[in-house]
Amino acid sequence: MPDNLSDLSKSATQEINECSSTTELDSLRVKYLGKKGAITIALKSVSSVEPKDRPAYGKKINELKSLIQGTLSQKRASLQKKEINQSIDDKKIDVSLPGRSNFGGHRHPVTKTLLEIEEIFYGAGFAVEDGPEIEDEYHNFTALNIPSNHPARAMHDTFYFNSEFLLRTHTSPIQIRSMEKEGVPIRVIAPGKVYRRDSDITHTPMFHQIEGLVIDKGINFSHLKGILHQFIDTFFEENTEVRFRPSYFPFTEPSAEVDILSKEKNWLEILGCGMVHPKVLENLGINTEIYSGYAFGMGVERLAMLKYGIKDIRSFYENDFNFLNQF
Ligand code: PHE
Repeated sequence: MPDNLSDLSKSATQEINECSSTTELDSLRVKYLGKKGAITIALKSVSSVEPKDRPAYGKKINELKSLIQGTLSQKRASLQKKEINQSIDDKKIDVSLPGRSNFGGHRHPVTKTLLEIEEIFYGAGFAVEDGPEIEDEYHNFTALNIPSNHPARAMHDTFYFNSEFLLRTHTSPIQIRSMEKEGVPIRVIAPGKVYRRDSDITHTPMFHQIEGLVIDKGINFSHLKGILHQFIDTFFEENTEVRFRPSYFPFTEPSAEVDILSKEKNWLEILGCGMVHPKVLENLGINTEIYSGYAFGMGVERLAMLKYGIKDIRSFYENDFNFLNQF
């Protein structure tokens, strides 16, 4: 065999044997046996050899050609087997591995607190009422005995749409709407969003309140104290010190604000309450000789802040995942 052919034979067998994938093998086949491959070129070069040497030379090339073909097909078979095994290994599923759990959403801490509070009052026989966030002056103020010169009505506290409609500034208008709809006796709570033009560490322009209203025969202030004590103990899950501090609301008389004693021994206000003012009931045509009752209104964010030790009310509405995920 001439030198160039034996070199070709060596390099071809070596390359084919070292080849590690069928794709690589395909390019080697083209390199040696393709139209412009080494063997094809060698076959064409037969004509340039001395006529007497041609048969022997041609034979050698053909022998080399079938050697390369044989090596290629052997290698292909072994590579294919390897690749099939590899792909079976790659796709193997270990059924004993623990499953990947889905990322689960959860309730917003304000919603959680709201539902918790609802649950407590639901257990004490209160029904849940609803009312519109866009209120009229009458239900938000007038029917609640809030006089037209009262500071709460001022432009700088209230979001007005026009002289008649506004974003409700508290959930108390639902007291009026509930009594208009259902009359008395009544025993309801009313959760919802309320709006005030206020924003700092303890105020957001939108926050949540829960209103309570009980009107029946013979209701007095001790009923109000009883239900609020019961609520506070259940909500804070411990015996909390509570004080009723005289206060003023146009729609209750007498009125009080309720404070609880914090762990740091500070009195913190959590709600406003009182006996429903006779004028409010009379406006609705309710006989105040027979019926009396109490009402209360509490800030949901404020209660959540006290329960969970949150310092800045705005953190509820910044959509900070690390904050929200704690609940
Ligand atoms: N509506 C009052 C407020 O927003 C709270 C309140 C409700 C007070 C019911 C008394 C009775 O501050």
